[in-house]
Amino acid sequence: MSARVEPVVPGSVDRVSGVAISAEQIAARVKELGQEIADHYPTGDLLVLGLLKGSFIFLGDLVRNIPRPMQVDFLVASSYGSGTTTSGEVRLVYDPETHLEGRHILLVEDIVDSGNTLNRLVRVLRQRKPRSLDICALLHKRIAKGLELEARFVGFDAPPLFLVGYGLDHAENYRHLPYIASLKEL
Ligand code: IMP
Ligand code: MG
Repeated sequence: MSARVEPVVPGSVDRVSGVAISAEQIAARVKELGQEIADHYPTGDLLVLGLLKGSFIFLGDLVRNIPRPMQVDFLVASSYGSGTTTSGEVRLVYDPETHLEGRHILLVEDIVDSGNTLNRLVRVLRQRKPRSLDICALLHKRIAKGLELEARFVGFDAPPLFLVGYGLDHAENYRHLPYIASLKEL
């Protein structure tokens, strides 16, 4: 892969072990996804709801590649502390006040791991009676059992590793990396 991996957290052991998906691969796939999404919604109001913080870079690139009218809003849910495994608990920190009824809602997530976050959100969002509700995930680990709603749009199937970069963090580090890398266990 082309990207160079450099120490990115000053004063700490560099734990980024290798580029899993390069910036070029991401850009090419995001362009395709944008077109798939535009094709899927020929009519109607589309609200793209980014799940913060992990989706912030993906969302920014994705919406610029969806050639149709839309609006954009955000949700914050958090299920991980500073560890690399899910706690199973999901906190919904911010709820958009935007009216969802009768609109196509596309929920944009960085990565589907256990699926707990999405299951919780899907239940909440369905109560608002959107015209449709779908999920776009940049990465999918394909280990989630019993998802309320399977992601309709997926960027890449992810390896069963803890990944960082392009919005994904470990203890809030590495989000700014333009590529996706795996993290060494200490
Ligand atoms: P889930 O609820 O277990 O599906 O996890 C959802 C959230 O956990 C994602 O939106 C990410 O923020 C975080 N997460 C899951 N796997 C990873 C990973 O490999 N790297 C970084 N964050 C992750
Ligand atoms: Mg996270």
